[in-house]
Amino acid sequence: MSQHPAFDASTGKACPRHIAIIMDGNGRWAEARGKARIMGHKQGVEAVRETVRCASRLGVEALTLFAFSSENWRRPEEEVKFLMELFFLVLGREVKKLHKNNIQLRIIGDTSAFSDRLKKKIDEAQALTASNTGLVLNVAANYGGRWDITQAARRLADKVKAGELDSVQITEERLGQQLCLAELPPVDLMIRTGGDHRISNFLLWQLAYAELYFTDTLWPDFDEQAFAEAVAAFLSRERRFGCTGAQVRAWMNDKQQG
Ligand code: IPE
Ligand code: IPE
Ligand code: MG
Repeated sequence: MSQHPAFDASTGKACPRHIAIIMDGNGRWAEARGKARIMGHKQGVEAVRETVRCASRLGVEALTLFAFSSENWRRPEEEVKFLMELFFLVLGREVKKLHKNNIQLRIIGDTSAFSDRLKKKIDEAQALTASNTGLVLNVAANYGGRWDITQAARRLADKVKAGELDSVQITEERLGQQLCLAELPPVDLMIRTGGDHRISNFLLWQLAYAELYFTDTLWPDFDEQAFAEAVAAFLSRERRFGCTGAQVRAWMNDKQQG
């Protein structure tokens, strides 16, 4: 039986190659303890550390974390200021450890809106870890899925304008190539903590066939066990990519028989 190309790489009962996470619930974690919301963001950094460790250990190729959305600028000025400062501090503090662990750090999003000081820190962190060959850790900062698709469209439009491309050559594949994360395996598993069931303008295009996993656990409480539960849920699902369940099971059998 011929096999659908979608089944070649990331299907079967294999571990996810690319996990993306909407790290939500920091504010509520703090409020439940009678603390200021910013304390939840601070505590959330610990959960990031643990998640990076878990993903590395599992052998995941890419981990993409939503840290600050293009809409989060709407928050009180004080909270935004704190988040920017926290981002700056954490980058400076953690990058050596990431480098030591062979992790490649990339920031995705419209970084042009950040201060020069933060932009410089981002450039330094990315440059230091650029040739690392282990986990690719993408931090989405001032990222929006609509922004991502728009910037990809603009790049293709520029090519058309320059006469390098004809508009009929704009295919899903070409547009996809201009998006963030294009060079990485597709997102297999998208986790959202904090109990809400929405995408909040995260990876709109890239989540087309991701398995979505929602948990009530607030981000600062997300630990090794919570990570393992999400991966276990992923492994229990049947991914069909538009095919029928019978087709998928037949291909799985073929695969198992070598
Ligand atoms: C996620 O936690 C972190 C960011 C959006 C920066 P929240 O700050 O959204 O926490 P809740 O949803 O208000 O609890
Ligand atoms: C999504 O969380 C953004 C991040 C986790 C960075 P939000 O808390 O901003 O999402 P909404 O506003 O509840 O949709
Ligand atoms: Mg939130």
